[in-house]
Amino acid sequence: MMDHYTLPYWIYLAVLTVFVGGAMKKILASHLSSAPPLVAWLGAIVLVERLWASCLPAVLLLVLLGLACCFYSAARTGPPPAALPAHGKAVLITGCDSGFGNATAKHLDALGFEVFATVLDLLGDGARELQRTCSPRLTLLQVDITQPQQVQQALLDIKAKLGLKGLWGLVNNAGVCVNFGDAELSLMSNFRGCMEVNFFGTLSITKSFLPLLRQAKGRIITISSPAGDQPFPCLAAYGASKAALNLFINTLRHELEPWGVRVSTILPSSYRTGQSSNNTYWEQQHQQLLQSLSPALLEDYGEDYVNETKELFQSHASQANPDFSPVVNAIVQALLSPQPRVRYFAGPGIGLMYFIHSYCPFSISNRFLQKLFVKKKLMPLALRRQSGFNLNLSLHNNNNNEEKLKYL
Ligand SMILES: *[C@@H]1O[C@H](CO)[C@@H](O)[C@H](O)[C@H]1NC(C)=O
Ligand SMILES: *[C@@H]1O[C@H](CO)[C@@H](O)[C@H](O)[C@H]1NC(C)=O
Ligand SMILES: *[C@@H]1O[C@H](CO)[C@@H](O)[C@H](O)[C@H]1NC(C)=O
Repeated sequence: MMDHYTLPYWIYLAVLTVFVGGAMKKILASHLSSAPPLVAWLGAIVLVERLWASCLPAVLLLVLLGLACCFYSAARTGPPPAALPAHGKAVLITGCDSGFGNATAKHLDALGFEVFATVLDLLGDGARELQRTCSPRLTLLQVDITQPQQVQQALLDIKAKLGLKGLWGLVNNAGVCVNFGDAELSLMSNFRGCMEVNFFGTLSITKSFLPLLRQAKGRIITISSPAGDQPFPCLAAYGASKAALNLFINTLRHELEPWGVRVSTILPSSYRTGQSSNNTYWEQQHQQLLQSLSPALLEDYGEDYVNETKELFQSHASQANPDFSPVVNAIVQALLSPQPRVRYFAGPGIGLMYFIHSYCPFSISNRFLQKLFVKKKLMPLALRRQSGFNLNLSLHNNNNNEEKLKYL
């Protein structure tokens, strides 16, 4: 029996230990809802492996494994609980001028909800179109969520319409991405602009409508972004505001549990919303950035570097998905499911992205995000010069060596 303890056996054991140990460490550090089943599966794999090693007959092992799988799938399936009725439920959606808000307002209205849709511009195309195409149940409200007076006015208007009824749903959709680019090249106004709308604006509207939501034991649904959980290159300002929002929303979820208010987050993949496909807008932002950057910074990074970032972002935005239905469907589920989920991945690849972020080493997950998002080819100018200098230096040294050789 000593042939068990050969070199390959020890190598195998070491690799297994490193792999399982690393995965367990990562799982325990993350706060994923899928962590408990994953730990269970890892445990099962180790157990099966041990049983196999102790020479249990292979047939018996297969039978045991099969039984376990049957048991597991039987416990998981079962008829899904029926959705709650939409009729008579009032829902407030922010940011309905375009994008997810526009699509969600239309869909919820068609399902029979009493929709309150806030827009920035009551006379804009989006608002006029909602008024024209939706039922008379839909109410448009002009609200800039960064203006407390406008939020309070909307609260008064909605209270007057609802009478004694509470508010079933708040869909926190309004959000902005002011600009993008390396954090060092991002203006403070970009960081503050994102924070002002995505965090403080959402905070203000949520706090204001909470009494009505508690009254109805309703739902809060917030559109966040994977950029709030993962370090996407060039999205530090937007991502930081969404990260702050996520923490606020997750804390709220625990605090509102006793009140019967359920809180969900929607995590969309990349969609063609807001200004993302407006080239005029990004061109303006780009020019403004070039004018505002200090000459020293522009010298270090190079104008071509800033230009490449803009081009890459625009080409990424132009490939984004124009069909918002995965996001709208997730919002409907979060509103009407008897057991709404804590978070919904809306769009292809988001689950995989979170899996890689949660379970792979940083070197892999960071490279994955860079490949996925803006694939920069240019280095900052100062680094290019440096490596050119090093190259020249080494060529020079080589020449010297050759000369020395000649003289030897
Ligand atoms: C609103 O959504 C509809 C489709 O649901 C679309 O045709 C329309 O262009 C959108 N409006 C705006 C302003 O985005
Ligand atoms: C695109 O951006 C420009 C500049 O900010 C703005 O004037 C214009 O209204 C935008 N277009 C659309 C369709 O939003
Ligand atoms: C910006 O980059 C694009 C593509 O990389 C290039 O065609 C264009 O000439 C550049 N513009 C400037 C001002 O450098």
